[in-house]
Amino acid sequence: MSYPYQIRSMEEYEKAYKDSISHPDKFWSSVAEHFRWKKKWNRVLEWNFKEPRVRWFDGAKLNITENCIDRHLEKLGDKPAIIWEPNNPEERVRVVTYNRLHKRVCQFAQVLKNNGVKKGDRVCIYMGMVPELAYAILGCARIGAIHSVIFGGFSAQSIADRLYDAEAEYIVTSDGAYRGGKDIPLKSVIDDALIGNRTVKKVIVYTRTRTPVSMLKGRDVWWEDEMEYAETQVEKEGIVSFPAEEMDAEDPLFILYTSGSTGKPKGVVHSSAGYMVWTTYSFVNVFQYNPGDIHFCTADIGWITGHSYIIYGPLSAGATSVMFEGIPTWPDAGRFWDIVDKHKVNILYTAPTAIRSLMGFGLGPLKGKDLSSLKILGTVGEPINEEAWHWYDENVGKKKCPVVDTWWQTETGGILISNLAGVTPARPSWATLPMPGVQPVLVDENGKEVTQKDEHGLLNGNLCIKAPWPSIIRTTYGDHDRCRQNYFAAYPNLYFTGDGAWKDDKGNFRITGRVDDVLNVSGHRIGTAEVENAINMHTGVVESAVVGYPHDVKGQGIYAYVVYGHIHGDEEMTRRDILQTVTRVIGAIAKPDKIQFVKGLPKTRSGKIMRRILRKIAEGETSNLGDTTALLDPGVVEEIKQGKL
Ligand code: WTA
Repeated sequence: MSYPYQIRSMEEYEKAYKDSISHPDKFWSSVAEHFRWKKKWNRVLEWNFKEPRVRWFDGAKLNITENCIDRHLEKLGDKPAIIWEPNNPEERVRVVTYNRLHKRVCQFAQVLKNNGVKKGDRVCIYMGMVPELAYAILGCARIGAIHSVIFGGFSAQSIADRLYDAEAEYIVTSDGAYRGGKDIPLKSVIDDALIGNRTVKKVIVYTRTRTPVSMLKGRDVWWEDEMEYAETQVEKEGIVSFPAEEMDAEDPLFILYTSGSTGKPKGVVHSSAGYMVWTTYSFVNVFQYNPGDIHFCTADIGWITGHSYIIYGPLSAGATSVMFEGIPTWPDAGRFWDIVDKHKVNILYTAPTAIRSLMGFGLGPLKGKDLSSLKILGTVGEPINEEAWHWYDENVGKKKCPVVDTWWQTETGGILISNLAGVTPARPSWATLPMPGVQPVLVDENGKEVTQKDEHGLLNGNLCIKAPWPSIIRTTYGDHDRCRQNYFAAYPNLYFTGDGAWKDDKGNFRITGRVDDVLNVSGHRIGTAEVENAINMHTGVVESAVVGYPHDVKGQGIYAYVVYGHIHGDEEMTRRDILQTVTRVIGAIAKPDKIQFVKGLPKTRSGKIMRRILRKIAEGETSNLGDTTALLDPGVVEEIKQGKL
């Protein structure tokens, strides 16, 4: 398989970009025609950002799994689709060919059907990084069920909230998951999430760790038994064929929950056709994928990066995707390099936080590892500092591999701003140029396009996008107005990203980070309001304010100022109790790094917390706090400064 839409030079990029803006219909038709459709579209694009309403390839019929699997079988049937590297390096690697993937996905689709799952039903998936997770995701897509994958680090309470929000009736999980030296008891977390739940009908449990689990008769079934039964049912000539459900272009493919600046996480909904076209197109172009290359994205499939660049994008391109169960530092900090060496990885796509954490171990873990297979390196999830960029470039890429800095979001479905490896120029810590079809614009607080350069000769503003690309968010599940308010109401006729950015004369973008109350901790998005709500649930807490502060490895750390009524025991114990409450309510990923007990929070006369001041103090700035005259009680600031951790 080659890719007729692959951009091979700067000139081709410029032409593609121009064509995509001046004739979007023609441009995207010519890309989309290289996919497998059950019926072609009537119209390429119809949209307004007011409602918002965005429809790509309207009238078309397809099933994304036919594009990710069936269409490759003839030529690539025996080629690896997924190479699975287990947590324990001593355990056997599993190579899943396209033929095998087809068989397993069809089999699992049959299992879902046998258990009553129908098109449009929501299936929550809570598993570790095992090939069965891919079968579960694609099995859902095969029968047209909407999957909602939940990252293994979320607590029972978070799962319960997501089950409720998505009105999910089915769960796929496993007894446990291996991550480094730990076993995570997934099924028992699910059991806690299901206490009092009356909507979930079936829980399918895959056996991975064989930790003892409770299995409720009538509700809980074993994956292995169900798969075996499905195999006897529909096996034909060695291959199980389960017909791919015919989906409308705009039928929802999945829900993925993500944090925003207010309230509870939102269920971002992506559609079938647009998401497929964009993840494939961006995968091939950003990473300059060539048939036969081994692609290793280190993300967890519980996040959008794993959805788009371990599963859907690579598989739709007929690529070989490495899936890693473990963590970068176990059994030692050379694990990524061992995997690159062992599987002859050509493309490595990881997060700045992982790079910074590995930098901390020095060059020792890289010694003796053959990284010569590497051709392209990528980063995603947060701004990459220049030091980490250069370390990656020099010590991993040996200065021979283009580094792509890919900016995008859960809501964008795929990469929107990035250099194209070796094709358009890289620049340390700059995401650089927009992909064809993407029209970024920087605006000021009033939504006016920024035209005045700042003291560095750059434009600086809030990053918005002017028109839809195929994988733009379609809605937030169950509450369309929330989608409008969050992304399309801040500035009329623009999609607002929540990020700030700089732009230079050549049209390059540098993302500066979130401008709203969303933190980016180790590349994970966490809303400050969510963490505050969790802390406030702890007994004795009167109120709290959470801000981010620069953290050497995580990018941002979580700093919580807590007003406490009565300290139970000592302060240190109370801190640990609060962390336990946050872990229960959200999950360990949201635990504050620092908790400072304070008598009061800096508030304006109208009662608004002045976070700007708290942010500065957390960052270590104590003298230049800006205007504090609006404060009700300036005295609290002094006290907070004194007590800074
Ligand atoms: C941040 C992850 C700078 C940004 C794919 C965005 C980045 C948020 C980059 C989305 C990058 C992502 N440079 N910042 N290359 N990539 N971000 O939804 O703040 O988990 O809004 O999607 O991560 O995080 P999300």
